[in-house]
Amino acid sequence: MHVAIFGTGYVGLVSGTCLAEVGHEVTCVDVDQGKIEGLRQGIIPIYEPGLEPMVKANHAEGRLKFTTDAGEAIAGAEIIFIAVGTPPDEDGSADLQYVLAVARTIGRHLQAPAIVVDKSTVPVGTADKVRETIAGELAARGMDVVFDVVSNPEFLKEGAAVEDCMRPDRIVLGSSNPASIERLRKLYAPFNRSHDRIVVMDVRSAELTKYAANAMLATKISFMNEIARIAEAVGADVEHVRRGIGSDPRIGWHFIYPGAGYGGSCFPKDVQALARTAAQNGLDPLLLKAVEAVNERQKGHLFELVLRHYGGAAVLRGKTFAIWGLAFKPDTDDMREASSRRLLQQLWDAGAKVRAFDPEACDEARRIFGQRPDLVLCDAAEQALEGADALAVVTEWKQFRSPDFARLRQVLGDAVLFDGRNLYEPEDVEAAGIAYWAIGRGRSIRNRGGAR
Ligand code: UDX
Repeated sequence: MHVAIFGTGYVGLVSGTCLAEVGHEVTCVDVDQGKIEGLRQGIIPIYEPGLEPMVKANHAEGRLKFTTDAGEAIAGAEIIFIAVGTPPDEDGSADLQYVLAVARTIGRHLQAPAIVVDKSTVPVGTADKVRETIAGELAARGMDVVFDVVSNPEFLKEGAAVEDCMRPDRIVLGSSNPASIERLRKLYAPFNRSHDRIVVMDVRSAELTKYAANAMLATKISFMNEIARIAEAVGADVEHVRRGIGSDPRIGWHFIYPGAGYGGSCFPKDVQALARTAAQNGLDPLLLKAVEAVNERQKGHLFELVLRHYGGAAVLRGKTFAIWGLAFKPDTDDMREASSRRLLQQLWDAGAKVRAFDPEACDEARRIFGQRPDLVLCDAAEQALEGADALAVVTEWKQFRSPDFARLRQVLGDAVLFDGRNLYEPEDVEAAGIAYWAIGRGRSIRNRGGAR
């Protein structure tokens, strides 16, 4: 089938590549000329495991094309995806300007019947707006072309995007038009072989499903972070509690890891946007507001542990912190809403210096922070430790999981480790003579009272 995809971000590029991989003819459209030029030469603007060889192979075989020419892409497409960004505007609502700009473009170029698919995470009611916008443009051209707008939210995770896209656990299709559903069933058939993963519903329910999924996951994390605080206060270990509750299948093992807070391009934005939708409909979204507030507080928690250890901010001036992990999670170079950003800012505000290492996100950090005297971006984890007084681990990259604690004890001036992802066993760290602060582990209380 011939497909056009607007937006070559995470969702657009990965979806387009996977659709080409199973044999569809895909044209990816973006307004960013540089990005399109780069993609044609095999330069992938994001780090995503497995994506680069797949883009190159499908491009070379002619099934995956990149263009800035919207008209050309629309002319040949029976299915047109909208996968552009929906950044939050000042009040937390999703900003639809890019989605609606694409809708206008579609309306200006559409010649033959097509199905327009909203893949971006968009507030309930957006499909109707997209429909009205396209219809308005068609009417202005005096054209009468049959089209439908379907909601088909994407659930892929950064770092596992290709895998998620090739083996989705569900494919949500929102439309009341059986013909559109039939076409999309065909499109997705290669991804839907072993059992039926397609869930059909009305368009508004599909739009809400995406927000409900992300808000539920964010709620689990904030819940665990709250339990971690309680554990810390009462001298319990949240890691025991986690193991104690995860075995209940109603709770499950996933997304109950306490940590330095959730980040990324989805959870923070989607929880806010859903709360906003609720408020606009006269509701008071008590739970969503709490999920967001708990997370905001949690992002500052590592620094709170730093303050507890050192007995205040005054002593931090001139100290050097090694930071392991800048990305909002492992296997990505994405630093949007990353907890590391909060910690770095708090350390800098207190006059401390930072030597940071991340396996993928150092270029992104360079782009965000530029050159500054209190930041050294390092090429290796070991290099970040040189001359450091303390180590803080913010992202749980695999390579940080088993450090040589004896070596850490030697190099860290103050022999202290702040673990924002509970990667280590307190006994192992402490046996090496290092003070250990983690999230929601009774140790943090035992250590209260300052440096040893
Ligand atoms: C998320 C959803 O998982 C995905 O289905 C949706 O399509 C987009 O949003 P993503 O943003 O890639 O995907 O990240 P995810 O892996 O879900 O992690 C989000 C954040 O939560 C990370 O900062 C992670 O460190 C944090 N997290 C996750 C925890 O703090 N604890 C956990 O138990 C799980």
